[in-house]
Amino acid sequence: FYVDKGNHRHFMQKEIYEQPEVIGHTLGAYVDLTTGRSRVPVGQDLSFSNVRRIAISACGTGFYAGLMGRYFFERYARIACDLDVASEFRYRESPLDDVDLALFVSQSGETADTLASLRYAKEQGLATAAVVNVQESTIARESRYVLPTLAGPEIGVASTKAFTCQLTALAALSVRAGVERGVLDGAAELELTRALAEAPRLVNEALKLEDAVEKLARDMATHRHALFLGRGFSFPIALEGALKLKELSYIHAEGYAAGELKHGPIALIDETMPVVVIAPHDRVFEKTVSNMQEVAARGGKIVLVTDASGAAAKAVGAHSTIVLPDMPEIVAPIAYAVILQMLAYHTAVQMGTDVDQPRNLAKSVTVE
Ligand code: G6P
Repeated sequence: FYVDKGNHRHFMQKEIYEQPEVIGHTLGAYVDLTTGRSRVPVGQDLSFSNVRRIAISACGTGFYAGLMGRYFFERYARIACDLDVASEFRYRESPLDDVDLALFVSQSGETADTLASLRYAKEQGLATAAVVNVQESTIARESRYVLPTLAGPEIGVASTKAFTCQLTALAALSVRAGVERGVLDGAAELELTRALAEAPRLVNEALKLEDAVEKLARDMATHRHALFLGRGFSFPIALEGALKLKELSYIHAEGYAAGELKHGPIALIDETMPVVVIAPHDRVFEKTVSNMQEVAARGGKIVLVTDASGAAAKAVGAHSTIVLPDMPEIVAPIAYAVILQMLAYHTAVQMGTDVDQPRNLAKSVTVE
């Protein structure tokens, strides 16, 4: 295939802007948009009725999507999830007796460690499923169930649209699983799928904040280190935000669960340390704010990414604030991820690094 950048300066920027559309396509595979009912993709006879434990493994950005998947499946379907980076899963010899499904997440479908983990799971007699973007890939071919993301070809080495499509697929699947397991009734299902159907619009709202994010990026580019904090549903997003920034700008960035701050990273905080706090006004907002205040008290430079209700709560201490609209919790990780993609992108542009082809990285790692 041939893909060009259109009017965009980089593939990454183009791919960031494609998200409303490709998230909508992906959602269409998991939700019947006329009835609002969740479904497994056509042709896959996967049922979650008897699934009580899922072992998830993936690499890189896919791993953070997998972590998000764990939060979704545990919250909406009450399915316990184990989670490993694939390079550990394949050698860890974890007892898998009570695992009902091994789930892999991969954009390329060719990552060596993820493929080896898939083969290992099959050898152990597990049912396997893969959330995968390239439908002709080895992982798609070898998995019992193929759960597509419809992000289209992703050229930028740093994953963007594949990630938000993975979140979309996993969120919708967890709703399906919740219904099949009797955890969610029809009304709860509709409420969640309606919320997910807002994802394309909410991502558009996030994209409209690009100028404000670019301004933050100018400041970020003057730093050598950064921290990203989030709790609950925002924890995987903080990890992914830190990964994006380090991949693209070579700024040393770490993502942390906000509550873990006091067990180490707080020692790093001074006036020169930017701290990006992901905090929608959700059930853990107050807790995150109190962690943020610990940072503020030590002079850390806080960038708060929140929503209208969070901003109205006037939590003191933020140096700058990005404000998204209020939105249901299931869809928030998707929109917040987009803000962090733009932050990493513009920081890299500012620093003059090779956005689409960062040094030392490969789009698909087919060696161990
Ligand atoms: C490489 C890419 C990452 C990607 C990871 C896993 O490191 O640079 O963007 O997240 O591989 O790739 P996969 O294709 O399995 O999702």
